[in-house]
Amino acid sequence: MKGVVLAGGLGTRLYPLTFVSNKHLLPVYNKPMIFYPIETLVKAGITEVLIVTSGPHVGHFLGVLKNGKELGLKHVEYAYQEKPDGGIADALSLAESFADNDNLAVILGDNTTDADISESVKNFKEGALIFLKEVDDVNRFGVPVFDKDDPQKIIAIEEKPDKPKSNMAVTGLYFYDNKVFDIIKNLKPSGRGELEISDVNNAYVKEGKLKWSKLDGYWNDAGTFRSLYNAGRYWAEKNE
Ligand code: TTP
Repeated sequence: MKGVVLAGGLGTRLYPLTFVSNKHLLPVYNKPMIFYPIETLVKAGITEVLIVTSGPHVGHFLGVLKNGKELGLKHVEYAYQEKPDGGIADALSLAESFADNDNLAVILGDNTTDADISESVKNFKEGALIFLKEVDDVNRFGVPVFDKDDPQKIIAIEEKPDKPKSNMAVTGLYFYDNKVFDIIKNLKPSGRGELEISDVNNAYVKEGKLKWSKLDGYWNDAGTFRSLYNAGRYWAEKNE
């Protein structure tokens, strides 16, 4: 299995911090944010990684990550997302040749977690696997709708719903087989003009190929001032 870290986007919710830097290079306690998702992959034995990035500060990634060796990577590649806010699925589409028919563990560059996903990596064969986490502010995320008769079964993912049907967020960690690229090619941009990862996951739901697992441990997406602050505080306390 190979890894993909999605670090495009504009990070507008973190203006003015992201005027001079890419969001994923901002500090979370003692490291650039993007170190955390890379370390999550490396800890699970994934050492071939593609970084997808965009925007005015792309060159800085090379200076920070270099050839990835210091983080335990054996191979790192970079891809450039032309439309920085084209959406998570648009960013993922750039991984097709890198994947070379292998399965992918995809993680958003602003997600920090101490969960150990090694077992899931070992067991994943085909389809899609998403990781869910109970949160208080679930309407900021994709939210699963479970089957009334079979509460383990997801029948849809709703993107940022006004009336969420569960308190579980779809975290920014997803496993896909290589069919994901055909799915993305058939997507239409959403109302906000993005290719949505929830639409990808819903395509897997339709085919009966979406599985889920609870993410065990701390998880945070550091895309707002409050969550960036919370992530820094968590990792400081864990490391001191
Ligand atoms: P978001 O936080 O939804 O978007 P953003 O990073 O542009 O931030 P903002 O809403 O404040 O403008 O995206 C979550 C992650 O997904 C982000 O950290 C990087 C990745 N991403 C891409 O790689 N490409 C994209 O086009 C988008 C929208 C996100």
